[in-house]
Amino acid sequence: MTAQTMTTRTDRRDLADLLAAVRARTMLLIAPVSEDDLRAQHDPIMGPILWDLGHIASFEELWLLHNLTDGIGAGEMPGLYDPFENPRAVRGRLELPSLADCLARMEAVRREVLERLAVVDLDGDDPLLRDGFVYRMVAQHEWQHLETVLQTLQLKRGAPYPAPRAYALPVGPRPAEPGAMVRFPGGTVELGTDDRSLAYDNERPRHTVRLAPFWIDVAPVTNGEYLEFMEAGGYARREFWSDAGWRWLEETGVCAPKYWTADGRGGWRVRSMDRSAPPDPDRPVCHVCYYEAEAFARYAGKRLPTEAEWEAAAAWDPERGTALRFPWGDDPPTPQDANLDQLAFETARIGAYPRNVSPIGCYGMIGDVWEWTSSDFRPYPGFEAFPYREYSEVFFGSEYKVLRGGSWATAPLVVRNTFRNWDYPIRRQIFSGFRCARDA
Ligand code: AVJ
Ligand code: FE
Repeated sequence: MTAQTMTTRTDRRDLADLLAAVRARTMLLIAPVSEDDLRAQHDPIMGPILWDLGHIASFEELWLLHNLTDGIGAGEMPGLYDPFENPRAVRGRLELPSLADCLARMEAVRREVLERLAVVDLDGDDPLLRDGFVYRMVAQHEWQHLETVLQTLQLKRGAPYPAPRAYALPVGPRPAEPGAMVRFPGGTVELGTDDRSLAYDNERPRHTVRLAPFWIDVAPVTNGEYLEFMEAGGYARREFWSDAGWRWLEETGVCAPKYWTADGRGGWRVRSMDRSAPPDPDRPVCHVCYYEAEAFARYAGKRLPTEAEWEAAAAWDPERGTALRFPWGDDPPTPQDANLDQLAFETARIGAYPRNVSPIGCYGMIGDVWEWTSSDFRPYPGFEAFPYREYSEVFFGSEYKVLRGGSWATAPLVVRNTFRNWDYPIRRQIFSGFRCARDA
């Protein structure tokens, strides 16, 4: 056997393992949920979980069966599970199958996919198959939908979701005082990536950007710091809010992060699935929208970082003039590096992961909470849609803000310094927090 075929065989097993791992997680997460709760539209901003399951199967069928046979026909499977034909708000009114039928279809698709994977040519010129890209894309897609499913479970009506918590989080000394900042020296940095084995099209191509020097928070803003903002009248003082932010505040009447409720004694309780506790002052604030992040930053005499500043602070080593894939280096995340992979069902204390530090000294940029940046979601210079326009390109524009770094609900496969997430600036059901920056 040649080295070439040996490598390919290992690759095939790795790809099958990636698909199996995320499917096992899907089954674990939905196991405690009743069929009624899987079928329910719990909120207009989230579709039924049963729809996500069917969509996961359709996406896999489209990309790992149809589009491998006939060339790329479409980006999404037309019909019930096309997210554009059926936006979230209407998914509860669709004729979704029984859970048993849905799971049977997921398994049937998977069986065919594995048969196909055993014989597909992974060493040819097809950029979809080369290095197994499309298999990683499909695994990544299922993981991303599981984060969406977790948002739905946290939002769900009725009894809270009994979270299958699998581990206790580490604790460690705080690396710096609340509000402490580090300086990025500025200069020319390289952002994005040319990777074609895992990265999405919107992360490409690698390109250079000139940055002015700036300061950036050592750690994400915590519940403790956010409470000080609230106690300083943060939600009532016009001067902290942008025009759009103030309009949002007046329309919604919000006065605390989502999932915070008054405890009746002048304090607060924060709920994460089926557990609630007073806000831990040493954990990142979570479930705030872009406007709240922006208002806090103004209160603190700071601003939000641009996504270029965020990525430079996470990845760039100014001394060596090189970018890292993760703040700690190029090795993928282990459970010792960052709070990722869903099964903690909460954020960790600042300082829990001493290895989760970037070359310039920023902690916790990967994991715990997605971090809002001040940037609109736009293509990098030289962007080319691949393999379908509907992943990124149709969302470029001023409607969405970029979030970086992943949350406790993000899988390791879906996070890296170059990964770009985006959402509407009003969204708070996402696992979102932020850190601040300032001009130097
Ligand atoms: C990148 C999280 C904005 O959920 O809308 C899932 C990911 N794209 N299926 C989303 C995605 C296609 C996407 N976000
Ligand atoms: Fe999708």
